[in-house]
Amino acid sequence: MDMKQKLEEMLAAAKAAVTEVADEAALQEIRVRYLGKKGQLTTIMKGMGALSSDERPTIGALANRVKEQLGQLFDQHLQRVKQQELSRRLEHESIDVTLPGRRGVSGSKHPVTLITEELIDIFSALGFCVAEGPEVEQDFYNFEALNIPRDHPARDMQDTFYINDDVVLRTHTSPVQIRTMLKHRPPLRIIAPGTVYRRDSDITHSPMFHQIEGFMVDENITFGDLKGILTTFIHECFGTKVAVRFRPSFFPFTEPSAEVDIQCVICGGKGCRVCKNSGWLEILGSGMIDPEVFKSVEYDSSKYSGFAFGMGLERIAMLKYGVNDLRLFFENDVRFLRQF
Ligand code: PHE
Repeated sequence: MDMKQKLEEMLAAAKAAVTEVADEAALQEIRVRYLGKKGQLTTIMKGMGALSSDERPTIGALANRVKEQLGQLFDQHLQRVKQQELSRRLEHESIDVTLPGRRGVSGSKHPVTLITEELIDIFSALGFCVAEGPEVEQDFYNFEALNIPRDHPARDMQDTFYINDDVVLRTHTSPVQIRTMLKHRPPLRIIAPGTVYRRDSDITHSPMFHQIEGFMVDENITFGDLKGILTTFIHECFGTKVAVRFRPSFFPFTEPSAEVDIQCVICGGKGCRVCKNSGWLEILGSGMIDPEVFKSVEYDSSKYSGFAFGMGLERIAMLKYGVNDLRLFFENDVRFLRQF
């Protein structure tokens, strides 16, 4: 058989073989059989050395054409086989669009974070800016500059964690007053949320808790401003119907001082366990900034006056969300946290 015939028969055989193929793997096998290194075409072409020099160019050209046609043939059928496999899969696989979706679990904000954000919103609307200070604080800012000298009995009001003689874990957010006033001049309207620490641990006290401090300093600030701002805040936070009461108190860094009570949000003022039958709940401490404090930040107290206040955020959150146990805020049981 001459070479031309061999090549043509091989092409015809390949065409026949390929039409019956139904999957990619089988097609690949046939491709190797014809076009592979040890395939039929290669074997035939190896025999070309035996041809005469006038036969060789025509047979060579034919061999190349056959090779090209084989390539095209396999590519065409590869497309066909892939298409068939796809339609087969589409016929068998189906998606049930009526199945309920699977949701990812997402976290939520901690109630203390929520309350902090809400209070920041309320005070921002009243023109206050947020300031921050360190939790590991120098005695000077936490006590000394706030008119609480060493060995003064007022230090006993707060059971302090001491790092050393001069460094403490801040017992309140009031040191931010000093830091801010040393850095800036009046007029000032500042709130300072943050973590504070006291050596106290029982059902109603945690050694770590959160406060928000606020203060306003300018010319001609009066106790009337204090009452106005704090009453507005309470009405925004607990509703305009809740009654507010200012009760004389004492803090070394304010004079005069007042503690602020709201009508019990649990019983509406009738008296219950939460308000210890008084009908009132204490929510914050406040007062006019003491001239001694202005002295330590070198403000002229004949020119400037101001008020300050501080409150416990867990306490506000408990009253607002009706949580009856302080420890729930720190245990971080997801069954509790998910409710916010
Ligand atoms: N720092 C006080 C406390 O922790 C609260 C307070 C702040 C009182 C500012 C008056 C003025 O109890």
